Amino acid sequence: MRRKLVAGNWKMNGSRAMLVELDAIAAAAGAAPGIDVSVAVPFTLIAAASERVPTLAIGAEDVHEAESGAHTGCVSASMVKEVGASFTIVGHSERRSDQHETSHDAWAKAAAAHKQGLNVILCCGETEAERDADRAERVVQAQIEKSVPDNADGSWFTLAYEPRWAIGTGRTPTLEEIAAIHAIARAKLRMLIGDRAAGVRILYGGSVTGANAASILDTPNVDGALVGGASLTAAKFVPIIEAAA
Ligand code: G3P
Repeated sequence: MRRKLVAGNWKMNGSRAMLVELDAIAAAAGAAPGIDVSVAVPFTLIAAASERVPTLAIGAEDVHEAESGAHTGCVSASMVKEVGASFTIVGHSERRSDQHETSHDAWAKAAAAHKQGLNVILCCGETEAERDADRAERVVQAQIEKSVPDNADGSWFTLAYEPRWAIGTGRTPTLEEIAAIHAIARAKLRMLIGDRAAGVRILYGGSVTGANAASILDTPNVDGALVGGASLTAAKFVPIIEAAA
């Protein structure tokens, strides 16, 4: 049985003053012992966030694939772990579009993060043009094939399906479309890692709100949500936690 996971992703938002939002989020997580709740925050806030709400899993939004070295401006998995991160997102579509990261990069980052003992949320998802061209399933399958580490299992690895056109737009796929991609993702995981696929959570991400969370979370093979905009305030994030609980 896979526990539901509701994960926030603050992206390039937040300040020390905003950490007050985490108090109510941590309280809601505490009131929902049957699910997992986590929040990925900018590098600059990881230490303060993890000190402020030690019961909440705080993560990074990305890590470099190397452990250390001449990579100006980059941050490694061991660095974020040292300041309190317990997980990291890798392969987010904004990294793929803004920093031209590939599925191979996501694979390397996932492997590096796992080596340092971090849990990983690895993102995949098609563009609007790819969906319009009826290529969504093939694109997601190819991303999974190239980015999921051979040793992935549900103890540390989570997949997140985030159609790029649904991110921050207020648009979501139909529940049937979500179910179809999640089923395909599960089947692809099974091909790659066998029976361990059954234990891997697959999150849906893209314009999840308190209003649509319950129906999305009730969709077959949807094991939680990766939430951007609605994770920035407790007022919007807590209803999603409650919908999952
Ligand atoms: O990683 C979460 C994400 O990309 C979805 O963002 O704002 O559509 O919930 P949003």
